[in-house]
This record gives sequence, structure tokens and C-alpha cells, in this order.
Amino acid sequence: MEFPFDVDALLPERITVLDQHLRPPARRPGTTTPARVDLQQQIMTIVDELGKASAKAQHLPAPITSASRMQSNRHVMYILKDTSARPAGKGAIVGFLKVGYKKLFVLDDREAHNEVEPLCILDFYIHESLQRHGHGRELFQHMLQKERVEPHQLAIDRPSQKLLKFLNKHYNLETTVPQVNNFVIFEGFFAHQHPPARKLPPKRAEGDIKPYSSSDRESGLPQGW
Ligand code: ACO
Repeated sequence: MEFPFDVDALLPERITVLDQHLRPPARRPGTTTPARVDLQQQIMTIVDELGKASAKAQHLPAPITSASRMQSNRHVMYILKDTSARPAGKGAIVGFLKVGYKKLFVLDDREAHNEVEPLCILDFYIHESLQRHGHGRELFQHMLQKERVEPHQLAIDRPSQKLLKFLNKHYNLETTVPQVNNFVIFEGFFAHQHPPARKLPPKRAEGDIKPYSSSDRESGLPQGW
């Protein structure tokens, strides 16, 4: 994805990590530095455009990733830039991965409710022209290392078929633990501690606890909500 400004100078590293502050990374020495407010606007443009492209690719009614959503949540975005091609010398973006911790009620294999707060895969997109070239895996690996998590410790917010295949191929994640919400977890999820996980009494009546965990994907709310 190309932009009318210099992506290459804006994001000096191959993978940029953004949090809710959407801070422009430090620029390479010798690069001219536009006003900070302009740089932040460029970052916001990239986040908004990536969110729109991802929503389109997944046939979502509205983007679930945007600059305003990033600013109002504690999510982390990993953005991969293209370091090979440099169209018009301004660089390009290959895709992104968005993660965040969420409090969820998940069922274990005995169908007991567990309150956990795992790292969740919330949005993931590689540009159509660059899919199946290993870029998704590069981003995912980087995220796993930075967040210090193992693939089976993750919860995935309504994964697409492509993502399910991706997880199976690269991380052998196949057998899911059935849930009643949008989140998918895999065998091995409960084998590790999820601080601050709290296991609820298993014999609790179904109606006592709402086995619902909020997912950005089901609301269909327009951007900014
Ligand atoms: N059909 C089936 N499997 C696919 C496809 C596809 N079109 N594209 C990628 N995969 C899976 C396959 O397992 C593939 O291996 P294979 O080519 O040997 O079959 C593997 O991913 C390739 O791995 P990478 O090249 O590292 O993955 P890629 O760079 O394509 O990124 C991603 C994977 C992010 C899922 C990408 O395909 C994409 O953007 N898809 C469209 C958007 C999408 O579905 N995002 C996930 C939404 S759900 C969520 O975010 C929680």
C-alpha cells in the first residue's frame, strides 16, 4: 500500500510497533523532520487506511481498526513495511497485525467457564498482492517474541479461513476448544497460566454467568465507536 508521503522515512524499521499513543518513531539521522503533528497525522492515515483495507478483505461491515480505536484502547499494532520495492522512493506498507489483552469467559474441555485475560489476535491483514509470501508469518513471529507468548496461549477473534489455515500451517494449531462466543482457542490453551486468570467453580449454573466476551467483530458499529 502506497501513501502520498514518505513511508520509508516515517517508519525507519521494517516492523513498527504502535500503541495507543500512535507516536511517530524516531527518524533516521540526517532525515529532514517535519512538524511532529504532521508525522502523527501520517501515522493516523496509515492506521485508518490499513483498517479499511483489512475490513474490505474480510467483508466486515465497518473497519475494526482505526486511529481513533487505537487511541481509545490498549491495543498494539505491528506494521510491516516493504523494504524491497520503493515505489516513487516513498516506500510502501505490506500489512499489519493488531493484538490486545481482553477479559474473556472461555469454556474448557469439561465445558466449565473460565475467566481469563489472554492476548488476543484482533485484526490481521497482508496486502492482497503479497499474501502467501511469508510476510504474515514474519509479523506473527515478531509479535510472539515481543509479547513473549506461545501460539497456543492466544485467543483469536473470529478467525477467517485463511487465518485458520495459517495457524495450522505455521504453528500446528488445529484442534479448537469449542466456545459459545466469537473467540477461538486451541488445545493447550489451558496448559499454561494466563495471569491474572481466575478459574471459576465448574458446577456453576449456565445462567449465572454470561458466557459472552465482547468482540469488535460482531457489533458492526461504524468507525470511532
Ligand atoms: N487461502 C488459504 N490459505 C491461505 C491463503 C489463502 N488465500 N492465504 C494465506 N493462507 C495461509 C495458508 O496456510 C498459507 O500456506 P500455503 O500457501 O502453503 O497454503 C499460509 O497462510 C501462508 O503464510 P504467510 O505467507 O506467512 O501468510 P500471509 O502473508 O498470506 O498472511 C493472512 C496471512 C494475514 C491471513 C493473509 O492471508 C490475509 O491478509 N488474508 C486476508 C485477511 C484475513 O483473512 N485476515 C485474518 C482475519 S481474522 C483476524 O484477524 C482475527
